[in-house]
Amino acid sequence: MTDSRATLGVDLHLDLSAGRGLRAGLTEALREAARSGRLAAGTRLPSSRSLAADLGIARNTVAEAYAELVAEGWLTARQGSGTRVAERARPRRAAAAAVRARPGLRRPPAYSLMAGAPDLAAFPRAAWLSAARRALTDAPNEAFGYAVDARGRIELREALAGYLARARGVYADPDRIVLCSGFAHALTLLAGVLRARRVREVAVEGYSLDVHRELVERAGLRTVPLAVDGAGARTTELGGEAGAVLLTPAHQFPTGVALTPDRRAAAVDWARTTGGLILEDDYDGEFRYDRQPVGALQGLDPERVVYLGTASKSLAPGLRMGWMVVPAGLLDEVLAAKGRIDWTSSAPDQLTLAEFIRSGAYDRHVRGMRVRYRRRRDELVAAVAGRVGVSGIAAGLHAVLDLPGGTQDAVLRAAAWHDLGLETLSRYAHPDAELPPREALVVGYGTPSASAWSPAVAALLASLP
Ligand SMILES: Cc1ncc(COP(=O)(O)O)c(C=O)c1O
Repeated sequence: MTDSRATLGVDLHLDLSAGRGLRAGLTEALREAARSGRLAAGTRLPSSRSLAADLGIARNTVAEAYAELVAEGWLTARQGSGTRVAERARPRRAAAAAVRARPGLRRPPAYSLMAGAPDLAAFPRAAWLSAARRALTDAPNEAFGYAVDARGRIELREALAGYLARARGVYADPDRIVLCSGFAHALTLLAGVLRARRVREVAVEGYSLDVHRELVERAGLRTVPLAVDGAGARTTELGGEAGAVLLTPAHQFPTGVALTPDRRAAAVDWARTTGGLILEDDYDGEFRYDRQPVGALQGLDPERVVYLGTASKSLAPGLRMGWMVVPAGLLDEVLAAKGRIDWTSSAPDQLTLAEFIRSGAYDRHVRGMRVRYRRRRDELVAAVAGRVGVSGIAAGLHAVLDLPGGTQDAVLRAAAWHDLGLETLSRYAHPDAELPPREALVVGYGTPSASAWSPAVAALLASLP
């Protein structure tokens, strides 16, 4: 027979104060847990039978404690839904204090056109679930143990190698793919490797994400900005001091231009002559609208380029899944930085993504989203036509809107009034970059859900000069 004590109900930790009657002690411990918020409103408590078995006390004692707390309003008991912590038990004051204690935490705006996220409401839940079901059904038992190969699961590395070669023109040997918790993790590992190689400077694009620059700087490296113009980053200006350059060649973040062929060639020439490395951030390379996607720069020289990809735009940033294709001469150092064991990536998630790619669901999702994002991009361009200049729209999930001089502050104030989250281009400027003054907005048209899209565009239009 099954041991019901071990298998029934849910676990509940309670501090039963010594020296009190059993029932009074249990009642007070439960009351305190509900009052303090340690047991959140709605939490289902174990059945009286199961809790009595866990605590080694009579079932009646638990039933009486529950009944008393139901009478006081701390718990609710309903046929079919068991005994739960009541809604009114939420510790309002404690929650408010916690929010106040976190400086800078403000209510998010009602509408957001901030760049950075795909449409989270469009996450392919059903297809992901069925891939997870198939992947977990077929997974060998060892997949649930500590992963001994720091590169990550071979199933996903093989699926990615095929996909990246086919869709992005990457030379991808599964043995040289290293799976990571997103691009940020990969960049952190690479910055550590560069520092260990005594590199001091990494060139970055003059407009780029501050959080990524900070990851590089935290490893003890200096970031040096490259000017960015209509042809992408000026790789022709790369100097001998930098040991690596971080680029977004397919779709410069945030200006949205593609690195031109001569600038690509200049980057590769620089890497070959100086021994430097190119870190290629291919964060949204799948989303190109007007012609074939621009292939990865890595194809030009897989020994000098580290290719970095992520599921954050194509699927969702919450997955924390990314990958890098590493030159042979760098692999051991990257693996040493990652650790002897793969501590960071979940094997069930890796197997699910492998199955998602293998089954064709990834391609279907990307193609479907490309159609949706393209439609939004076209609507945005049509809506702002004649009022502001639009650029960077051939690819990706954001566009740059150039504003008439002297109007940017008023636009931001109006957007705040319309409860719209917006970002300026200048917010992405490297502090040392010598960039021509430019008043512009970076509009993330991928961010709103389908229902929030029209009101977000309306709020934008109402904010523009
Ligand atoms: C320029 C750029 N690179 C990379 C990423 C992806 O980062 P991660 O994979 O760490 O979520 C993003 C996501 O917003 C991005 O904007």
